[in-house]
Amino acid sequence: MWGQSCGDLYSLGDLQPDPSSALHTRHGRVRGRGSRGEAREELQGCHHLLLSSTMKDTACPQSLRPSPPRLSQQIGDKVFTTNTVTGGYAEYTVASQDTVFPLLGNLDFAQGASIGIPYFTAYRALIHKAQATPGETVLIHGASGGVGVAACQMARAYGLKVLGTAGSESGMKVVLGNGAHKVFNHRETDYVDKIKEYVGEEGVNVIIEMLANVNLSKDLQLLSQGGRVIIVGSRGPIEINPRDTMKKEASIIGVSLYSSSKVELQQSLAALIAGNESCWLRPVIGPRYQLKDAAQAHRDIIDSQGASGKMVLMMS
Ligand SMILES: NC(=O)c1ccc[n+]([C@@H]2O[C@H](COP(=O)([O-])OP(=O)(O)OC[C@H]3O[C@@H](n4cnc5c(N)ncnc54)[C@H](OP(=O)(O)O)[C@@H]3O)[C@@H](O)[C@H]2O)c1
Repeated sequence: MWGQSCGDLYSLGDLQPDPSSALHTRHGRVRGRGSRGEAREELQGCHHLLLSSTMKDTACPQSLRPSPPRLSQQIGDKVFTTNTVTGGYAEYTVASQDTVFPLLGNLDFAQGASIGIPYFTAYRALIHKAQATPGETVLIHGASGGVGVAACQMARAYGLKVLGTAGSESGMKVVLGNGAHKVFNHRETDYVDKIKEYVGEEGVNVIIEMLANVNLSKDLQLLSQGGRVIIVGSRGPIEINPRDTMKKEASIIGVSLYSSSKVELQQSLAALIAGNESCWLRPVIGPRYQLKDAAQAHRDIIDSQGASGKMVLMMS
């Protein structure tokens, strides 16, 4: 099974021997699994780390904590990948060994499909690029989709004060249920004023931005002294006033998951394994599409009425 969102690829399945190719020494061939396979992978539960009324129902006893995944992959292992060589819209794909990781314990395949891009991107944005520290305030600007939910869970687990935005009631519930202390609706005309009122003069230390072509100028108004805007998503140009960065000595930093070094990917993986073991990593699945409906999935992501987790493509 594979998922794809706005051209971002992630895939997972059982590692199979590649019967024909010399690529076998460098690559695992990843085979898709259907819903019966997923049924054996249901969440069994583990110790909860994040305490809030909206998250209690996902807590689970420490005695059921998943065992750590084995880090070297064998044929038959369940895996996910952050990238593929041959593309993700297929029943089989080829991925470089560097980008193939064991499916974290207790996650099903759909949840696994939500890790490769969203969680690795969230970690790169929040930790590698923003260098966010506990006690800082972060605004996840577009928190209801794949990357946003991952960033909310991660930021809360790392001790930040978490503000999120969404564009629908259901999206706002998802954001609040996944680590945000406070949520705002980015389709309301005065939502930036509401954020300003909420954070006061101090402002926001870090903004993880999913739609910079719409928000970058507003973001600069919201930042604290020394604040950082981390651009994860943008669909076009925008005019900003560079003076808005000067007094605050603010930074605007772009993110590209595909620029991660092998060491950085391993660091992200280690953090995500820990997140799985302590149960803050809980991918939220939004709409599921069959492969034949991939074109519709692309249309829906562009004309979205409101995300509620990660969109995934199913192979069966
Ligand atoms: N730089 C990288 O390495 C990297 C990696 C992964 C993804 N990306 C990009 O990051 C973006 C997010 O990815 P995703 O997988 O999370 O996509 P997604 O699941 O489609 O989510 C999109 C998010 O953007 C929000 N949004 C819509 N209008 C907004 C607005 N005016 N202001 C703020 N947020 C708004 C959506 O909120 P509502 O739907 O609730 O309105 C939703 O939370 C995409 O553009 C993707 O291509 C970049």
